[in-house]
Amino acid sequence: MKNIYIKTWGCQMNEYDSSMIARNLEKTGKYFITTKSEQADILVLNTCSIREKAQEKVFHQLGRWKKLKDTNPNIIIAVGGCVATQEGEEIFKRSRYVDIIFGTQSLHKLPKMINEVEKNKKFVIDISFPQLDKFNYSLPIKNKGYTASISIMEGCNKYCSFCVVPYTRGKEISRPSDDILFEISNLAENGIREINLLGQNVNAYEGSTFNGKICFFSELLRLISEIDGIERIRFTTSNPLEFSDDIIEVYKDTPKLVSFLHLPVQSGSNKILQLMKRSYTTEEYEKIIEKLVKARPNIQISSDFIVGFPGESKEDFKQTINFIKKINFDMSYSFIYSSRPGTPASEMKDEISLQEKKERLYTLQNCINKQTMSWSRRMLGSKQCILVEGQSKKYPMKLYGKTENNRIVNFDGESNMIGKFVKVKINEVHTHILNGILL
Ligand code: SAH
Ligand code: F3S
Repeated sequence: MKNIYIKTWGCQMNEYDSSMIARNLEKTGKYFITTKSEQADILVLNTCSIREKAQEKVFHQLGRWKKLKDTNPNIIIAVGGCVATQEGEEIFKRSRYVDIIFGTQSLHKLPKMINEVEKNKKFVIDISFPQLDKFNYSLPIKNKGYTASISIMEGCNKYCSFCVVPYTRGKEISRPSDDILFEISNLAENGIREINLLGQNVNAYEGSTFNGKICFFSELLRLISEIDGIERIRFTTSNPLEFSDDIIEVYKDTPKLVSFLHLPVQSGSNKILQLMKRSYTTEEYEKIIEKLVKARPNIQISSDFIVGFPGESKEDFKQTINFIKKINFDMSYSFIYSSRPGTPASEMKDEISLQEKKERLYTLQNCINKQTMSWSRRMLGSKQCILVEGQSKKYPMKLYGKTENNRIVNFDGESNMIGKFVKVKINEVHTHILNGILL
């Protein structure tokens, strides 16, 4: 048995891919996944290129692994994911000790690639886009707790001016709906109670069905909600662009779909949205939220924001803050704009100082945090349904579970409640963590 260590950076999709890599390798019976890099015979780096100095970060990590390889030349180093797809052979040119480069869509070939390196002692690369192939090689997800993520579509056709995803993940492609339903039914039989559907734009889902028809996202949601055992459905990420009325309708009649939606708006200024090539206006975004609130009055919305996009004036930023207050977002992931090689925005003049960008980020996060707290405060005294996940990490005598709106609730309970839904009354609130009493 050989030891494999996998290091993962980036989004939930990368986490999902890494679990697929691990399962594919374990399936061969030749490899064991280790959590200690010093014990590894094979080191795998699954990279992310969405922000920051992604390439540099990769070479720093590889530099650290080179030291391990200097002491044991038989170690195999594999680099995969978004940076590998974008940089390809460049990685090998800069770090000649790397043995394998694989892309986001060729990870199922890794066991074969490792065999090749062992046999021929020669570097191998595959960053092709054989879309969906990788799913045909994957085994059902192993249980980890009572929630499971499952990829339903990949890639992106939107080409927002700042984003590398369309270049690293390829075009939008949806998995057949029956494959997804089969996988989720298996998960439900194995105790999974909550499903998180993954994709770069899940609402653009268009999967083929067994009888040659097309299943859209709204229908997929309804079909999943009919699976016995699955009590909660989440999804991430969706895009305001194709958030059509049929999806909003699902909120009316499908209680298993959570009253919480992550719908990234990125900016509250129409001028910036246009420069970002987001293809919607703040007014259109607001309209979607209005309809959603009508369909599901208690829905809470979270978003992603980019501050300091080239051309963002103080006035544009003020519009973003006003928009945050108007929509009353519950949470956000917010970032300073990072110029990505190969994207149209990287050609735009970036004249905002780093100091100014940091201040804007701070102001934005401060504003959202206050709103998060006020949403939490509203929960005081309310009854909440939580999926009990285990023993609280901070208070081992207590159990913890998660609400629909992603708050952790600690409470006194019995161990047989783990993996089940229970009702609690909230009696203490902090921003993200609450305390409850079992009802
Ligand atoms: N499909 C999603 C976005 C996925 S990328 C959507 O439509 O919104 C995840 C988040 O990373 C984006 O929402 C954006 O806020 C951030 N991001 C992407 N590229 C970025 C860049 N170049 N600089 C800073 N943040 C970026
Ligand atoms: Fe990126 Fe825009 Fe697609 S943010 S993932 S190009 S929707």
